[in-house]
Amino acid sequence: MSSRVFATALRRAATMARPTVMAAARPAVKQSFVKAATVSIKYKLSIGHSINSKQIVPTMQSRGMKTLDFGGSKETVYERSDVPKEKLLDTFKNDTIAVLGYGPQGRGQALNLRDNGVNVIIGQREGKTYQQAIEEGWVPGKNLFPVLDAVDKGTVVMNLLSDAFQKEIWPQMKPLLTPGKTLYFSHGFSIVYKDQTHIEPPEGVDVILVAPKGSGFTVRRLFQEGRGINSSFAVYKDASGHAKERTIALGIGIGSGYMYETTFEKEVYSDLFGERGVLMGAIQGLFQAQYEVLRANGHSPSEAFNETVEEATQSLYPLIGERGMDWMYSNCSTTAMRGALDWWKPFHDASKPVFEDLYRSVKDGSETARSLDRNSQPDYREKLEEELREIRESEIWRTGKTVRQLRPENAGKN
Ligand SMILES: NC(=O)c1ccc[n+]([C@@H]2O[C@H](COP(=O)([O-])OP(=O)(O)OC[C@H]3O[C@@H](n4cnc5c(N)ncnc54)[C@H](OP(=O)(O)O)[C@@H]3O)[C@@H](O)[C@H]2O)c1
Repeated sequence: MSSRVFATALRRAATMARPTVMAAARPAVKQSFVKAATVSIKYKLSIGHSINSKQIVPTMQSRGMKTLDFGGSKETVYERSDVPKEKLLDTFKNDTIAVLGYGPQGRGQALNLRDNGVNVIIGQREGKTYQQAIEEGWVPGKNLFPVLDAVDKGTVVMNLLSDAFQKEIWPQMKPLLTPGKTLYFSHGFSIVYKDQTHIEPPEGVDVILVAPKGSGFTVRRLFQEGRGINSSFAVYKDASGHAKERTIALGIGIGSGYMYETTFEKEVYSDLFGERGVLMGAIQGLFQAQYEVLRANGHSPSEAFNETVEEATQSLYPLIGERGMDWMYSNCSTTAMRGALDWWKPFHDASKPVFEDLYRSVKDGSETARSLDRNSQPDYREKLEEELREIRESEIWRTGKTVRQLRPENAGKN
């Protein structure tokens, strides 16, 4: 699809996007709501009748937990307005939140909790990441400790170590999880695949999950921008009788936008499936295949890259994010629309069996076995690096580097 084809769509988008741009300046509560729901959604109010979103968005500051219609199915969701700051601080007034791991998730979630005024300590082994924590204001012996010391001191233990290392350290961690504590994860992995990880939490401990739908960098960046990342949450064990409300409060404390309920099992299946599929694995496969066909037919790297990646990420995907695929289809030229309508089904039919295989492989634990095995080998980083080098040094992504440098906003940068 050429840029020319989308000129009309982009002009329309620029006009239609204005209200969204203005919304960015509004308080985060309203904005996350606008982003969480489609324009056509009807909101069921507690007083029992449905009205159109357009009528109620301006008065949404004080709404409570709500059940919304997601494409015909009802789901209950929670937002920041459900856990005002006072409620968050009150919920954890007697707690020490120990965040284990200062990797992308640990860092993002810990900094957001700290900025929200919650009492946070970090458990991180010494090295590069530990130094970064010090640079970002964590003080050894005060709120920065070796991992097991932090487990011992924490009443809420947020396990944000790598999934492979969670398994390794579990035998030493388990005795420190005394009754009354809370064990938190951002992935259902360790619990759901317990036959492989051997992670079985002790009695008397709440076991909960908040899984941000994005990298820890985005968790932090959106929070700093007054926005929020969407997260799922789940309760695996409710020993205290208050696990659910504490999970929701913690989820908002780490910077979630809106939160939807799941189970540990559904979280891990959908997460492993999604990242291997459309989020990363499938998209790289599609980019690569399209690029190769264009190159094999005599198109230049610049042309092949622009038609495959640059136009997608810089123009179309952000518009799909803002307005949806239906809007994208109905706002392109009729030539583009005809082609897209004819071809999405063959792509769907070709890829669905692959997605079905993938889901099976996630559900039967094969993906987990592979991941634990490969990522616990002593030289796992070097081996990963070798495979990553293959992608980095492929023509498509070397071309991408040059194309990115040519963006006007990058002029003069390396
Ligand atoms: N990445 C995402 O998009 C995402 C989204 C939602 C949830 N999650 C979940 O969040 C959790 C953390 O993920 P992450 O993305 O932040 O990073 P990660 O790379 O999975 O984990 C990084 C942390 O684990 C520590 N670690 C790894 N191996 C270790 C070892 N042998 N000894 C001691 N510490 C070790 C790292 O310390 P060093 O830096 O010193 O190695 C670092 O603190 C995982 O459960 C993940 O599934 C991730």
